[in-house]
Amino acid sequence: MTPDEQKRAAAAKALDYVTEGMKLGLGTGSTAAHFVDLLGGRVKQGLGVICVPTSKATHKQAEALGIPLTTLDETPSLDLTVDGADELDGALNLTKGGGGALLREKIVAMASDRMIVIADESKVVENLGAFDLPIEVVPFGAGATVIMIEKLAAGLGCKGPVTRRKTASGEDFITDGGHYIYDCAFGVIPDPVALDSGLNKIPGVVENGLFTGIAALAVIAGDDGVREIKPA
Ligand code: A5P
Repeated sequence: MTPDEQKRAAAAKALDYVTEGMKLGLGTGSTAAHFVDLLGGRVKQGLGVICVPTSKATHKQAEALGIPLTTLDETPSLDLTVDGADELDGALNLTKGGGGALLREKIVAMASDRMIVIADESKVVENLGAFDLPIEVVPFGAGATVIMIEKLAAGLGCKGPVTRRKTASGEDFITDGGHYIYDCAFGVIPDPVALDSGLNKIPGVVENGLFTGIAALAVIAGDDGVREIKPA
């Protein structure tokens, strides 16, 4: 299976957890897009669900497929969110935000009774950190915020360049919420839980891409088929 076929296989398996009448959170990224696509097929066949997308991109895709949409204002608690990840470890700590949607992704996941992560085998790691950690930062005072991030991270054994994300045309990447993303090349993150909670105490940090203690199940597809991981 190619990585893309693996993503689709994981998405297809996650669909088994969707039942009639569910309120769903829809993730963002290429793996989540497979899930949305497959869900769209089931909706066409008559499945009744109502969904909250985690980005403008997912909103557009779901709308085009005729998936009924709502907001967290109208529907503040959801049954299940299905989303991808950039990395995940055996405790189901995740790094997310490669696509820049981490804030909405975390809000929607936390508003759900359950989060299922879908991924191809390449995303499973022993320790998070090979993928740069995205942090969403308020533009006001961003330079000072970065210094606070670096200080906190160094105290938790994480050192490396913290770089403001740019678009392909060289402009600042701006999130759906109007913020910057800083990508942190920390290498191995020894304590994701401490880093996650420490980062979110810095005033200029809106949210960070570590999802700790949120995912209940991972559905992972590889060459040998699809397997499930529960938090260790
Ligand atoms: C979007 O902001 C991200 O959190 C994605 O969920 C994550 O980057 C995984 O994306 P892919 O499925 O495209 O690898």
